[in-house]
Amino acid sequence: MKSIVIQQPGKLMIETRPLPHPAAGEVRVKVSYAGICGSDVHIYHGHNPFAKYPRVIGHEFFGYIDAVGEGVDSARIGERVVIDPVVSCGHCYPCSVGRPNVCSELNVIGVHRDGGFSDYAVAPAGNAYSVPETIPDSLASMVEPFTIAANITAFLKPTPQDTALIYGAGPMGLTVIQVLKGVYGVQNVIVADRIEERLQMACDNGADRAINNRQQSVADALAAESIRPTLVVDAACHPAILQEAIHVASPAARIGMMGFSGEPSSITQQSITSKEISLFSSRLNSHRFPQVIEWMSQGKIHPEKLVTHCMPGEDVEAAMTLFEKDQRACCKVLLKF
Ligand code: NAI
Ligand code: MN
Ligand code: ZN
Repeated sequence: MKSIVIQQPGKLMIETRPLPHPAAGEVRVKVSYAGICGSDVHIYHGHNPFAKYPRVIGHEFFGYIDAVGEGVDSARIGERVVIDPVVSCGHCYPCSVGRPNVCSELNVIGVHRDGGFSDYAVAPAGNAYSVPETIPDSLASMVEPFTIAANITAFLKPTPQDTALIYGAGPMGLTVIQVLKGVYGVQNVIVADRIEERLQMACDNGADRAINNRQQSVADALAAESIRPTLVVDAACHPAILQEAIHVASPAARIGMMGFSGEPSSITQQSITSKEISLFSSRLNSHRFPQVIEWMSQGKIHPEKLVTHCMPGEDVEAAMTLFEKDQRACCKVLLKF
């Protein structure tokens, strides 16, 4: 089989590898579609602190089960599945409280172990979720990015009365916007980005109002209309944003963060406590696949609005370059295997 391997930072190869055998409790998936994510690009460039090399990247993928390991029901062969990349131990403290995404021995498929940019991939059977016929093959790999939005919004508990502010109109910001509108019915969703084309996409994905904060700061734009967001999500993840988010937020607001920057943010206790702001962080997803699959089949979220490109797997290098360099034209880029 062919696999897309990052042999070491900066070195991508399409390797011929032997077909993997599913271990006990695992399934083997014949991959048909996989989505490129920022973290794949980070592993390629050596900017992901968790990655070990060589690594088959890809954690957003869909395919058909074609073999099962010992202890897995052979009736699953032929099943259309998406794979939850979060592999956890099941017995540590976070696992025991339903948060396997921060398991003490967390293994993320495509990061800590080999992933889905490959003709075939293996995963624990419990990580392979059946996809109903209502979701086409070409969109099923979009379940994973929406689980990130499902996870952070589960902490934030949005209501229709909220005025939401989303920083960043990349894939993450757009999935959050869709979930706020389509699942939680939030009436007023404001998005901030510096790229006009991305703001346009955010409006196409349901945002009610767009702020280009290259031209005007978010604080000034909101102050001009006396808007105080009650819910803020930082899906742009620059360390300077948290301070501004706290400043513009309404008293009693909730703020969600998802960034991994190692740079300090400059915030004071007073700015948070005086408004009794709740701060939540969110990483990957904790068992959110069934929920997102349901939302997608019910038409509450629309993955097709995020997919701008689909390219053959062998064109991965061109696809990753396009994804990275052309943020005006690209949102989600899929690979077909
Ligand atoms: P992206 O790079 O495609 O999008 C980020 C967007 O934010 C861009 O459109 C950019 O123009 C905009 N932006 C940058 N600085 C800004 C600022 N100061 N104000 C307003 N907009 C600004 O990235 P993507 O894929 O949407 O991911 C966003 C972030 O989410 C990344 O930092 C990524 O590491 C993080 N992430 C976190 C996850 C988690 O589980 N916690 C999972 C996936 C991604
Ligand atoms: Mn991803
Ligand atoms: Zn654990």
